[in-house]
Amino acid sequence: MCGIVGYIGSRQAAPIILDGLARLEYRGYDSAGMAIFDGEHIRMKKAVGRLKVLENLTHGGETMKGCMGIGHTRWATHGAPSDINSHPHLNTSETIAVVHNGIIENYIPLKKKLTDKGYTFASETDTEVLAHLLDYYYKGNPLEAITKVLHRVEGSYALGILFAEHPDEIYAVRKDSPLIVGSSDDGCFIASDVPAILKYTRTVYYVDNQEVVKLGKDSLQFFSVDQEEITKEPVTIDWDANAAEKAGYEHFMLKEIYEQPKAINDTISPRLQGDNVVIDELHMTDGELAAVKRLYIVACGSAYHVGVTGKYVIETLARIPVEVDVASEFRYRDPIMDENSMVIVISQSGETADTLAALRESRSRGAKVLGIVNVVGSSIAREADACLYTWAGPEIAVATTKAYSAQLAALYMLAIKLALANETIDSARAAGLIKDLRTLPDQIELLLGQKEKIQRFANRYVGAKDIFFIGRGIDYAISLEGSLKLKEISYVHSEAYAAGELKHGTISLIEDGTLVVAVSTQPKLYQKTISNIVEVKARGAFVMAVTNEENKAMEKASDYCVYLPETDPCFANSLAIIPLQLFGYYVAVGKGCDVDKPRNLAKSVTVE
Ligand code: F6R
Repeated sequence: MCGIVGYIGSRQAAPIILDGLARLEYRGYDSAGMAIFDGEHIRMKKAVGRLKVLENLTHGGETMKGCMGIGHTRWATHGAPSDINSHPHLNTSETIAVVHNGIIENYIPLKKKLTDKGYTFASETDTEVLAHLLDYYYKGNPLEAITKVLHRVEGSYALGILFAEHPDEIYAVRKDSPLIVGSSDDGCFIASDVPAILKYTRTVYYVDNQEVVKLGKDSLQFFSVDQEEITKEPVTIDWDANAAEKAGYEHFMLKEIYEQPKAINDTISPRLQGDNVVIDELHMTDGELAAVKRLYIVACGSAYHVGVTGKYVIETLARIPVEVDVASEFRYRDPIMDENSMVIVISQSGETADTLAALRESRSRGAKVLGIVNVVGSSIAREADACLYTWAGPEIAVATTKAYSAQLAALYMLAIKLALANETIDSARAAGLIKDLRTLPDQIELLLGQKEKIQRFANRYVGAKDIFFIGRGIDYAISLEGSLKLKEISYVHSEAYAAGELKHGTISLIEDGTLVVAVSTQPKLYQKTISNIVEVKARGAFVMAVTNEENKAMEKASDYCVYLPETDPCFANSLAIIPLQLFGYYVAVGKGCDVDKPRNLAKSVTVE
């Protein structure tokens, strides 16, 4: 995720900005840049790659003189990592500089309007639209120009802005993307996260949605989007820097679990337009989509589990046969495919060796390959015929959570798109599905509110030897992921089984008190899963059920129930996985495991 640092005061700005950006490096980025006002002009330096490159280019900031500036580390979304696409972005006369975190969702129509008015664009980014739009509205009053821009842009943003004509002030703006400002005896600061400025000040103000802050050398003024001044109380930060990097969370994994509503929202909102799904990146007409007669989903680990869910959802909605394979098997099994086959490869890192090999194998056999990838510019993103990015931001914990959720959301959108192209659902059903999809982030927030309840339950299983997960259909796919989350970070042995299959052997492992987690989110299968619960309880199992509120029979059938809010059965995975992630996390924490870096595992598996 991108980082922002800004400074205005009596000291040299560039070294402070570089230092602040270095403290945000843990968020992941692929390029960096700074704009400093030297008393006459805005000077800018940008460089793709590590922050070190920018440091070397500016001799640690020494060659960029000036006491006010803004800096940025970019994690590419719109446009590949490159010097040109890095921030800051300038207007044509180089008198306004902008750094931006977030996504401007309506940048395409805005860019078109500005182009029609004669503006030219240097980069492929959504952010450059902001620099030109500010230029368009700027008539001498920065606050007026900024608030006019805010009324025009849709999406999420945290901004730092410089105006060359106003050498005693810089501006900060925020909507749905974190931003703070801080003050000290020798200057004021902007930062996208506390650790960036903790060395200089512990007095910070959290900028709220649609607020504008005017920072002077020794003053901070806050304004609403209607230019009315607002009073704000400072907060004194008493965390240590390491905790602050995790935004107060004990582990990156927990932070990322909490970032799931945003990851889903950022992935779906640019692609849901009214009651329609628009995936321009596919570069396929509805006719071409309808011509796809067989789909393959290929991935590893959790991404494979997303594929298992995708099979159920796509077959239910679009009635196209889907084969799901782990990439290490697919690449050697001589798969049968032709020009009517499409292969979807799913990968957070975009670098997983087996998934990349499966992609190459499929392309060599004439199939079109669509990548669902989180890391922009990664090998899979570059080599696939088309790439649908998940916008989960960098995932630091080895065990995936938010990228998994964003991958699910991407597949749901694809399933709706394929179903509409095949006319297997009508527009009313599509509208209902899209409404439910948009509601998922809020419903996940509600489930996250049950954290303490899950933690108390998980504490009882810190000493467990075996834990089983069962479910049918999509619930089996959820069980696979719930089981993997638990075992990879807590080292408790766990298996996931199709609920009806357990009695064909594995049920012999159930002993008195063995925990069985039964997932039951599909109304047509409620009764069937209850029958399987009865079977394991008869062998002494303790059953935790994860089910829908309406499934009242589960209260009696199980020993402990976690209820989920109502959604379309196709999307149930996105809700049911939340208590299971929290359960795995708290068992691991209870055991004192290194949650973010489990033994034997790597974040990106680039070997076969
Ligand atoms: C489990 C986990 C792994 C990855 C797998 C694929 O929590 O993170 O199972 O899902 O290694 O990685 P990507 O998605 O980078 O291809």
